[in-house]
Amino acid sequence: MGSIVISVATFFLSIAILAIPSFGKVSQEYIYPNYNASYYQYVDTLGIFLSSVKGTFNTAIFNPNAQQSNYYYLCVLYGTSNTIIWSANRNTPVSISSKFSFTPQGITLTDGSTVIWSTPRLNSPATAMALSETGNLALLDESNNSLWQSFDYPTDTIVMGQRIPVGSSLVSALSASDLSQGDYQFSVTNSDGILKWKGSIYWKMSMEPFAYSSSNAPISSMYLNQTGLYLLGGNGSEVVIQVDLSPAVFRIANLGAGGQFSISRFTSNVWYTEFVAPDDNCRIPYVCGSMGLCTPSGTGQGGCSCPAGFHSIDQDSSKGCLPSDSSYSLPPVCSNNSSSNGTNSSMELFTSLGANVSYFENIFSDPTVKFVNLSYCQSLCSNNCSCSGVFYANSSGSCNTIENQFGSFFLSQSDSNNLGGYIKVMVKSHVPGINGGNTSANQSSNGFPLIGLVLLPTTGFLLISVLFLSILWRKRKHSKHSKLDRRNSSSSLELDDIISIPGLPVRYDYEVLNTATNNFENQIGSGGFGAVFKGVLPDKTVVAVKKIIHVGAQGRKEFFAEIAVIGNIHHVNLVKLNGYCVQRQEQLLVYEYMNKGSLDRTLFSNGPVIEWQERFEIALGTAKGLAYLHSGCEHKIIHCDIKPENILLHDNSQVKLSDFGLSKLLTREQSTHFTTMRGTRGYLAPEWLTSSSISDKTDVYSYGMVLLELVRGRKNSFLQTRTPSKENGNSDDSSNESSMMGPVYFPLFALEMHEQGKYMNLADPRLEGRVTSADIEKLVCVALCCVHEEPLLRPSMVNVVAMLEDGIPLGVPRLESLNFLRFYGRRFTEASMMEGSNEVNAIRPYPLGNTGLTSNSSDSYPSLSYLSSHQISGPR
Ligand SMILES: *[C@@H]1O[C@H](CO)[C@@H](O)[C@H](O)[C@H]1NC(C)=O
Ligand SMILES: *[C@@H]1O[C@H](CO)[C@@H](O)[C@H](O)[C@H]1NC(C)=O
Ligand SMILES: *[C@@H]1O[C@H](CO)[C@@H](O)[C@H](O)[C@H]1NC(C)=O
Ligand SMILES: *[C@@H]1O[C@H](CO)[C@@H](O)[C@H](O)[C@H]1NC(C)=O
Ligand SMILES: *[C@@H]1O[C@H](CO)[C@@H](O)[C@H](O)[C@H]1NC(C)=O
Ligand SMILES: *[C@@H]1O[C@H](CO)[C@@H](O)[C@H](O)[C@H]1NC(C)=O
Ligand SMILES: *[C@@H]1O[C@H](CO)[C@@H](O)[C@H](O)[C@H]1NC(C)=O
Ligand SMILES: *[C@@H]1O[C@H](CO)[C@@H](O)[C@H](O)[C@H]1NC(C)=O
Ligand SMILES: *[C@@H]1O[C@H](CO)[C@@H](O)[C@H](O)[C@H]1NC(C)=O
Ligand SMILES: *[C@@H]1O[C@H](CO)[C@@H](O)[C@H](O)[C@H]1NC(C)=O
Repeated sequence: MGSIVISVATFFLSIAILAIPSFGKVSQEYIYPNYNASYYQYVDTLGIFLSSVKGTFNTAIFNPNAQQSNYYYLCVLYGTSNTIIWSANRNTPVSISSKFSFTPQGITLTDGSTVIWSTPRLNSPATAMALSETGNLALLDESNNSLWQSFDYPTDTIVMGQRIPVGSSLVSALSASDLSQGDYQFSVTNSDGILKWKGSIYWKMSMEPFAYSSSNAPISSMYLNQTGLYLLGGNGSEVVIQVDLSPAVFRIANLGAGGQFSISRFTSNVWYTEFVAPDDNCRIPYVCGSMGLCTPSGTGQGGCSCPAGFHSIDQDSSKGCLPSDSSYSLPPVCSNNSSSNGTNSSMELFTSLGANVSYFENIFSDPTVKFVNLSYCQSLCSNNCSCSGVFYANSSGSCNTIENQFGSFFLSQSDSNNLGGYIKVMVKSHVPGINGGNTSANQSSNGFPLIGLVLLPTTGFLLISVLFLSILWRKRKHSKHSKLDRRNSSSSLELDDIISIPGLPVRYDYEVLNTATNNFENQIGSGGFGAVFKGVLPDKTVVAVKKIIHVGAQGRKEFFAEIAVIGNIHHVNLVKLNGYCVQRQEQLLVYEYMNKGSLDRTLFSNGPVIEWQERFEIALGTAKGLAYLHSGCEHKIIHCDIKPENILLHDNSQVKLSDFGLSKLLTREQSTHFTTMRGTRGYLAPEWLTSSSISDKTDVYSYGMVLLELVRGRKNSFLQTRTPSKENGNSDDSSNESSMMGPVYFPLFALEMHEQGKYMNLADPRLEGRVTSADIEKLVCVALCCVHEEPLLRPSMVNVVAMLEDGIPLGVPRLESLNFLRFYGRRFTEASMMEGSNEVNAIRPYPLGNTGLTSNSSDSYPSLSYLSSHQISGPR
């Protein structure tokens, strides 16, 4: 079933690819009118069609979440991390086949025949569209004046150098992948920068201890630069409020989907959170759902619960709470409808929240009335259908009516105002036959608005909370690096102590690892999950210490559970996890050290040639490690990221696979990011496109691609240099050499040579003939079987091992399932040819997030795949 879906999808994709006459070349800095672009044309750059001069920013038709196939946005991305800094159509995502066009009248984004988004009417015709090195997308007139620019329409992010005027706002997205507007807002007013949830203020910059007010002048704009965030007065010359930050090359300020406003800088391919507001999670209005109670972390459990007399609506206490008394229900949603207008005030009651329960609105809004008694305060609320409760202070007689749906409460032991909360509820009638209906009908009609009120916000909250948790996690880890670190580490230590999961590997003390790595001095690699450092433990064991950076949205418990699983996998071809450390906002994994580093460094470098026998050992060792993950251990583990960077070597031909199990730790949002960051597309199997049926066969495909690279000693997609050097030296047939000039998509070339039986043409020229045709044939046949488009036709890893060890006959590659390589190879060629002589820019180097590989040669060309990004989460 799934495979049919895949075939159909790839079939249509192939059609789409074939139907397009030419493939897009990424423009630099400018685009001129009468320009069209679609995602299909730029599928190999993930939709990027315009880059700024130095490639720092890109404009793309971009899908931040491969799970949702129709969620494409016209975006400005920050290069190396593909961070979305602006989107045009945030509330109306378009399909993969939508079209971008730029004419003198402006930009339009059309889906089918519907115009989804367009720039406003311009005062004069546009002569160019430009993406500046600061990330501003602008339409220019003939004298290069801006007619329209994205900086004037911020979404949820501003970048360094961007200035937004008083009155403008950032509006949070619903989640990292659904960019539509959420309930949180950051607004620049003439006196402050404020955060609002559904219109109610929950944070003011002027009240932030790390913000300095140096003037009372009216604010005219907000500005972010290398040294801080500024609210400026006058005509931008005078600083009114400032948040000083340490100098950074690039930073953004962003209002997260979880309601926190944060400033992050991008250093060494990692986002470090420098500033977060509100700092106290309990001050986020919807952190525990509607009427949930947030307890500040550090005191015991921390997190979400319910006020006394309330129960959580779900196992997960962060989704909000309802009155426990089953005869109470919340008042129906207030509307103009006469049917819901008929609510009977005689059926209303106020239920108390108990002592020490506070609400953010009380801090930022003045009392509705003062010097009144409680019953009067409550009567103000019962007469108002949009009022959902009151807070009342006995001592001062101040009365705050809450006009919105309730957000979350927080526990406050030091609330000197002594406000007591009262929530308006309806008492259900238990008298049968009232209102002419029977009891059950009555109950269901009572239940309906209740569900409507509670469930709707909570589904949104689910998304928000995932993001929020990930922010929280990131913050924990990186606040050490933050100038504004206000936490101490004791609370996270306490949390750790709660966690006891059987099978966890050795736990190391942070100080021990810090000393072992000499303060994380000797970095030996970096991958999508973080940088790797060499260290020597006190007992002289040499280890590789990985600082985890890209995991987090799941709970800590899941993290530990996963570490326990990884720690219990022992196989000679899998890198052993010796221990871990979670302390001081850091997560570190301690692995055995492999002294020859990763395969890409040896294989693609100009260093000593890896002889054929060793290549074969590498192929076999990798296959065995993978076979063990797929069928040897208790739970099947899909690696999801097989590539030379994850194959580690040691003296005596030891070969070990690393980074397995970690993809489980990613959320969907993260994994998209993660995959795209790592630029591993060349190894991704076609089924990633449908993102539906990822299986162990997905790893088999990646393995096949790696095998081909082992044979050739180069990346699979590369440009043939104009100087063939020794290329011809040992080929037994040089008639094909001419076809190899220019771009080469090696898997296609391998298929062609396989068909002609000319295997020696495929050998790494550096081997200078120290390999036989039969040897190459064996690896190439296995490789081609592994990259069959149809996953079912790919051998299992166990069978791959058997084929390599001659235990079973070599598989015969099935041409009908390899034809996709031809479309793909043609694309590669065309894309490269269009550039003409300027080969170096033939294909825009895909922003690589990792790469310890510092090759400047043509080998470092991005692996081209007809796939885009894609999710990795879940499977094992
Ligand atoms: C762009 O698309 C429009 C509408 O489909 C078409 O009229 C126009 O010719 C296209 N322009 C180019 C340069 O392909
Ligand atoms: C506009 O900018 C482009 C690119 O920098 C330049 O070539 C052109 O001369 C400029 N035009 C005017 C009128 O300044
Ligand atoms: C950043 O902007 C502020 C306010 O305009 C200014 O005082 C400061 O010098 C700027 N920093 C840099 C590095 O330009
Ligand atoms: C605004 O800027 C201009 C020059 O750009 C300066 O002459 C003027 O004094 C400034 N006004 C204020 C209120 O700072
Ligand atoms: C109710 O009516 C008022 C004015 O009559 C209007 O502003 C408001 O949007 C209406 N609300 C709903 C939910 O229809
Ligand atoms: C009013 O109520 C009717 C039915 O009860 C419903 O169909 C309609 O959408 C409601 N209108 C508003 C504005 O709430
Ligand atoms: C709801 O009730 C109030 C007071 O009873 C009345 O003023 C208002 O017009 C009613 N609204 C509708 C839509 O019936
Ligand atoms: C409101 O309650 C009173 C007394 O409890 C009852 O007589 C009346 O019918 C109720 N009205 C509605 C609209 O339910
Ligand atoms: C509360 O105040 C109102 C008017 O301010 C008054 O009519 C009422 O009697 C008071 N109730 C109590 C219980 O004091
Ligand atoms: C409320 O806080 C006060 C002051 O810290 C404390 O004495 C009291 O026990 C708290 N009450 C509850 C119900 O937690």
